[in-house]
Amino acid sequence: MPQPLILPVDDASLARAAALLREGNLVAFPTETVYGLGADATNGKAVAAIYEAKGRPSFNPLIIHVANIKALDDLIEWNETARLLATSFWPGPMTLVLPRKKTCPVSLLASAGLETLAVRIPAHPGAQKLLQMVGLPIAAPSANASGKLSPTTPAHVAQSLGDKVDLILAGGRSQVGVESTVINVTTPEPIILRPGGITQEQIEKILGHKISLFEASLADQEAHASPGMMQSHYAPHIPLRLNATTVVDNEAYLSFGPDLAKTGAAYLNLSPQGDLNEAAANLFVMLHELDKPAYSGIAVAPIPNIGLGIAINDRLKRAENRG
Ligand code: TXA
Ligand code: MG
Repeated sequence: MPQPLILPVDDASLARAAALLREGNLVAFPTETVYGLGADATNGKAVAAIYEAKGRPSFNPLIIHVANIKALDDLIEWNETARLLATSFWPGPMTLVLPRKKTCPVSLLASAGLETLAVRIPAHPGAQKLLQMVGLPIAAPSANASGKLSPTTPAHVAQSLGDKVDLILAGGRSQVGVESTVINVTTPEPIILRPGGITQEQIEKILGHKISLFEASLADQEAHASPGMMQSHYAPHIPLRLNATTVVDNEAYLSFGPDLAKTGAAYLNLSPQGDLNEAAANLFVMLHELDKPAYSGIAVAPIPNIGLGIAINDRLKRAENRG
């Protein structure tokens, strides 16, 4: 596999990484849990590139990383429990799931179309400096190919992703080595969705009462921990018709690729160039846009079932399947 660029964390490499991120590229960076595969969370195309590089079979929502608590004010709606956990465990190996602000600039693709956002402030000095320097929310799953072990060294990242990542910032071995604890704080009682670097006991001590760990069948757990995986989660209000090559009645048309006949009561194109990366970045935004009672439904053009097209079709099928 072609080797990616690996640079130790210093002022020059951090400046280079921040510039790459601002231009929509992928940078792997150290955190105390595992190495993250970072992209500008406000740039849908950059976020789509994360899914593509990982070969992630579907758009599982991503964690958004920022440098400090203040930087979250633009992204999420705070509540008292979240504040308490935030001041107790950040920076550190904890992720909070909170309601997205209406004006949140994070790409809908990063949160898989959900109304919540998973956010984290990592403690690793390299991650801290990078996030401060770039000044943008950074979406970052673990920096490994989908289904493979999580990376805790720069070499792991290089082995798993090769030159699919534009730069790897080398910041030693991840001290925590397991992913962050993901806590849903949108419910009156917080629930641990994924056990991780902060223990249940630590959390209970701060809150002053017991909390539940989400325990269910693996399938349920996946659905709950990743609400994006639920069968009808993405259902628009109006019917969706897939693999459509023409529109009927008063349908809106969501096209893909070069399309001479711009038909339909409304017309949007996921990617006129037929770029699946661009299509993935546009998917949730355009579905939202066409989901209007004025139309009898949304006809969606066939999307090639390769690369990111598999994830797009997976999401479209769930959207069609209105439960
Ligand atoms: O330690 C970590 O958390 C690492 C480092 C890089 O920060 N990141 C990481 O990301 O493990 P990832 O993508 O492998 O895991 C994200 C987890 C998944 O279980 C996902 O379902 C959950 O967070 N998640 C993300 N957004 C969510 C949301 N809005 N609601 C519920 N769960 C969410
Ligand atoms: Mg992972």
